[in-house]
Amino acid sequence: MTSTQITLVKNSWRLLRQVSPELLVDTFYSKLFFDHPELRRMFPKKMDEQYQKLYDMLAAIVHRLENLESFRQEITDMARRHDGYGVRPGHYAMVGSALLWTLEKALGTDWTAETAAAWTACYGVLAEQMQVRGAGPV
Ligand code: HEM
Repeated sequence: MTSTQITLVKNSWRLLRQVSPELLVDTFYSKLFFDHPELRRMFPKKMDEQYQKLYDMLAAIVHRLENLESFRQEITDMARRHDGYGVRPGHYAMVGSALLWTLEKALGTDWTAETAAAWTACYGVLAEQMQVRGAGPV
């Protein structure tokens, strides 16, 4: 990611914080399960805790975006847990498009082509690190 893209993601996250976290995360999961109903069974029946965990993790990642290396351990651990949940490489594109769709709806006219490219790059970096670190024992 370029430093301009990092700034764009951080600025748009500031705008997104005006939307209720529950609404944002609820929209994301609704879109994900609407498009890919087969994924629903991977998640717990009650999603309340899941909502908060996903939101907090996104907030932490955006906060430390200029130095994702400092987040290495968290990403490695998260990747391993995802491996255990049955997450496979093909799933990352599904989650990525539901996430970008949600951000687009939430940001409205602030979702510019540059902001879209910045979030695409951001998710791309993260998904790549998750997949590298999720596979295999070390
Ligand atoms: C970069 C992308 C992703 C991020 C940042 C992310 C983040 C999270 C976080 C923070 C949790 C809470 C539990 C934990 O930390 O282990 C979680 C749980 C979960 N994620 Fe992800 N996730 C990502 C991609 C995916 C993908 C592609 C899938 C595939 C469908 C997925 C499926 C799940 C499932 C099934 C759980 C919960 C399992 C349970 O509680 O039983 N995630 N995710």
